[in-house]
Amino acid sequence: MRKFGKNCALATGMLALTATLSLAQAPVASPTGKPPRKAPTGGGLLAQAGSADKHIVDADAAERGKKTYIQECITCHGPTARGGQGGSDLVRSLVVLHDRYGSEIGPFLKKGHQTQGSPAARFSQDKIEDLADFLHLKVGDTLRTSPLFRSQNVLIGDAKAGQAWFNGEGKCSQCHSPAGNLKGVGGKYEAIDLQQRFLFPKPNFGRGGKPTVVTVTPATAPAVTGNLVQMDDFNVSLRDADGEYRSFARVAGLKVKVDDPYAAHIELLDRITDKNMHDITAYLETLK
Ligand code: HEC
Ligand code: HEC
Repeated sequence: MRKFGKNCALATGMLALTATLSLAQAPVASPTGKPPRKAPTGGGLLAQAGSADKHIVDADAAERGKKTYIQECITCHGPTARGGQGGSDLVRSLVVLHDRYGSEIGPFLKKGHQTQGSPAARFSQDKIEDLADFLHLKVGDTLRTSPLFRSQNVLIGDAKAGQAWFNGEGKCSQCHSPAGNLKGVGGKYEAIDLQQRFLFPKPNFGRGGKPTVVTVTPATAPAVTGNLVQMDDFNVSLRDADGEYRSFARVAGLKVKVDDPYAAHIELLDRITDKNMHDITAYLETLK
């Protein structure tokens, strides 16, 4: 289980929609015709048309891909790849669902997709295949097919250590208290869901949950504040308090201030260790 490193809980699965996804997962031949890196198992046309035609995730590659994902993709596509500020939901993306070992994701990125650091067009084939493994892992998690999801026992931590981390290094007490907004949280969710909630509290980026608030100040007009709709290098759009849609070109002099209520939790994914995670889960579980 430890082979996923400090964030092995990344593999513990989101809980959602399966019907549409399994339909969308029907096989589509790669247009490149490139042989897959790893041959899918199972034979016969029928078998291949079913679950055998799947990207088989390599755990080590997915772990490497996760690092690239955090460096290059997470700000837009979100910590679970379910979409985020200015990026779409990759778990439901046809590009990803039809991909086999980078066959679709590679060409898509090579076209010059915007990323956080280096241009995606310069990614090596290895990097692309690792990213593909990570994204397929996320798809698998969503479908709850991941063996990790089933076998992981999340209640193995030390509640006392979790409490200390909560109030200390973890800085959770800046925003939460066991008698306040986390009161009874341990009775509210199953342990696995509880862990999921604090690792990824935003249920579905942009759809439900607390909105990201953005304030746009044009050079010569009053500031406008509202819920972020989308933002990229060129435009930023929001819905103001009256529900009106406003869009601004990001010209020089335009100031944009983004306030993501989940920022602390996104940042957490990068620093939390396996031990912290299990301890926190054990501690939160005591808040009945
Ligand atoms: C600056 C924001 C941003 C970053 C960073 C970013 N993306 Fe995107 N991505 C988007 C937006 C916006 C779209 C939807 C529009 C489009 O297709 O270009 C998208 C679409 C995609 C799609 C196609 C989804 C579909 O089926 O429509 C894939 C695949 C994808 N991104 C993968 C990645 C990967 C992998 C990375 C990191 C290497 C990454 N993106 C980094 C903003 C971003
Ligand atoms: C800067 C503020 C901030 C910090 C720091 C922070 N959180 Fe949160 N947390 C939030 C917000 C905002 C939510 C979402 C609340 C909502 O959507 O109603 C949240 C949600 C949660 C939830 C889900 C509660 C529920 O009922 O679904 C848990 C559990 C949680 N946080 C635990 C933690 C833990 C553990 C830490 C420390 C490791 C932490 N948080 C650090 C702001 C913060």
